Amino acid sequence: MTAVVDAVDPADAVGPADAVGPADAVDPADVAFIRATTVLASPPGVPELRLYLGGDVTGVWERTEARAGLEQPPPFWAFAWAGGQALARYLLDHPATVAGRAVLDIACGGGVAAVAAALAGATPVMASDIDRLAVGATALNARANGVSVTPVLADVLDGDGAGAEVVLAGDVCYSREMTARVVGFLDRAMARGATVLLGDPGRAYLPIDRFVAVASYEIPVSRDLESVEIKRTTIWRPA
Ligand SMILES: C[S@@+](CC[C@H](N)C(=O)[O-])C[C@H]1O[C@@H](n2cnc3c(N)ncnc32)[C@H](O)[C@@H]1O
Repeated sequence: MTAVVDAVDPADAVGPADAVGPADAVDPADVAFIRATTVLASPPGVPELRLYLGGDVTGVWERTEARAGLEQPPPFWAFAWAGGQALARYLLDHPATVAGRAVLDIACGGGVAAVAAALAGATPVMASDIDRLAVGATALNARANGVSVTPVLADVLDGDGAGAEVVLAGDVCYSREMTARVVGFLDRAMARGATVLLGDPGRAYLPIDRFVAVASYEIPVSRDLESVEIKRTTIWRPA
């Protein structure tokens, strides 16, 4: 399923649940669920943004599983992870990185980096994830900020992000397998000439010897999620 969200008036950001975009873009039931389990708020590292954010990870996860009737992955989409917030911060502070350029945010979650890229002037902006609630949340979050993002429900990690001039990856190194796939993807994207930026708060699997630090931020995070209140988070580019 591919969802396309047109730019809208931010004043309409909390419109009816079925007003996300084209009629077949995002399942209205997903939209209603995201709205019911989150609140529209600003992530602390990027107060310029308004995102549908969950408060209590366990509560959102339990409701996600109850709704699906079977085990579900953690509700990554309901939070702006430190890596994604740092990328968003970097793009808003350095808009020339993406302005007027085609951007792909891989493993977008709620799309914090994609939304910031669009606000910084990137066009077009695509955001991919394998979780349909992430696709729905990204659609809602783009709309809440009055920008155009195309969320894509797909596993693109075996490709090279063809067409994207800038590839963003926020907080994607949380497992060995995911990290290996992402690093392979980023290598291929860079080999074809894309600018590649990865935001990471020191997750265990990132091979930092293969990357060069571009910027670092102290990102306030949820103690519930991270067991600390601040995560020093680095923007990396491949060496
Ligand atoms: C920790 S979250 C980060 C979300 C977002 N980038 C951020 O920084 O807030 C990791 C995301 O990776 C997604 N993911 C996992 N495997 C994936 C794959 N093969 N392709 C695309 N996304 C994937 C998950 O669904 C989840 O939304």
